[in-house]
Amino acid sequence: MNYDNPRLILDSSNPPEPGGITWRSPSNIAIIKYWGKYGVQLPQNPSLSLTLAAACTDTRLEYEMRENTGGIELDFFFHQQPNEAFDAKIKTYLESLVPVFPFLEQLKFTIYSGNSFPHSAGIASSASAMSALALGLCSLEDLLFGTLKEPEAFDQKASWLARLGSGSACRSIFPHAAVWGESRFVPGSSNEFAVPVGDRLHELFKDFHDDILIVSADEKAVSSRDGHALMEANPYAATRYEQARTRMGTLLDAMQAGDLETFGKIAEDEALTLHALMMCSNPSYILMQPGTLAIIDRVRAWRAETGHPVYFTLDAGPNVHLLYPGEIVAEVRGFIEEELTEFCENGHYLQDWVGEGPEEL
Ligand code: PMV
Repeated sequence: MNYDNPRLILDSSNPPEPGGITWRSPSNIAIIKYWGKYGVQLPQNPSLSLTLAAACTDTRLEYEMRENTGGIELDFFFHQQPNEAFDAKIKTYLESLVPVFPFLEQLKFTIYSGNSFPHSAGIASSASAMSALALGLCSLEDLLFGTLKEPEAFDQKASWLARLGSGSACRSIFPHAAVWGESRFVPGSSNEFAVPVGDRLHELFKDFHDDILIVSADEKAVSSRDGHALMEANPYAATRYEQARTRMGTLLDAMQAGDLETFGKIAEDEALTLHALMMCSNPSYILMQPGTLAIIDRVRAWRAETGHPVYFTLDAGPNVHLLYPGEIVAEVRGFIEEELTEFCENGHYLQDWVGEGPEEL
C-alpha cells in the first residue's frame, strides 16, 4: 500500500482561499484486542472494536497558503490553549506525511482540538484525536484537489492515515464496528487500514452500551507503546496471536446471531488475556487496581444473580467498560449506582454507546 503522491502540489500562482474543516470523531472499544505490532504500526493479529459515540474529539483544521515552503508550519490549540507536547507530536506526524500530502509544506495550519470528555478522565483520546485529524486531512485533499470523491476510498485513506497516528485509531472511522488486521473471516480486511463490519452484526449491536467506570484517571505507569514493544519477547506471543486470529470467526458469528453469551465470554477473556500478557512481560507490570478486580467480581455475581447480559472489558488501564444491550439500561444503571460507583474515583463513570461514526461539522 503506497499513498505517496507527488502530484498533490498546489499551484502557487493560483492559491486557494484560506479555509477550515472540522471533524468530530469518536473513540472505540476493542472486543478482540490489538496487542503487539511490527513494522510501521502494523498489528500482529486482527482486532474488532465497537465504535463509540459520546467520547469523541472535535478537530478544526484551518489553513492558508504561505510564501515559503519546507517543513510544517503549525499552531496547535487544545481546549483553546497552546499545547507544546501535542503540537510537537502532530508536527512530527504531519512531517511524516509529506510524501503522501506534499501540499502540507505549502500551507500554514492552525489546529483547534478538544475532547467531549474531561482530559483527566483516564480515557485514552488518541483514537478519537488521530481519527479526527486523519479525516480532516482527507477532506482537505478533496477540497483542494477533488481526488477523494468516492466514500470508500475516502474512508480507507482516512483509516490508513489514522493508523499511522495511533494504531487503534484506524477503527474509529466506521459506524458501529470495525475490524483491523488481515482475517480470513473478513473479506477485504488488511493490516494497513480497518474495514467496517457493522452491516454483518445483529440489530442489537446498534443499541448497545458501554459505560466506563473510572477506577483511576491517573496516567498509566506503562504506555501502550511500551506495552506493544514488550510483546516482542513475550513467551506466549505466538499462541496469543493465533488465538485472536481464530476467535475472530467465533466472535463474528456470535455477533451476527445476537448470541450475547458467546460475545461476552470472548470480551471478558480478551480483557483478562490482555492484562495477563502485561503480567508475564519482562519486565512485568500490572495496570489493574483493587477497584478493577472488585468491579469484575460484582459484575459476574450480578450477572449470575439476575441473568442480565452485562459483560466487562478493559483497555490498557484500570478502568472497566460495561457492555450491555439498550433494553436493560435502567437495570444496569441502578446496579452501577448501587454497587459499582464506590470503586470509582470520585464516584465517576461515563455513559457511552455504539455510535454512527465520525461526522464532518
Ligand atoms: O492504539 P494503541 O497503540 O494505543 O493500542 C491500543 C491497545 C488496546 O487499547 C489495549 C487494544 C485495542 O485494540 O484498542
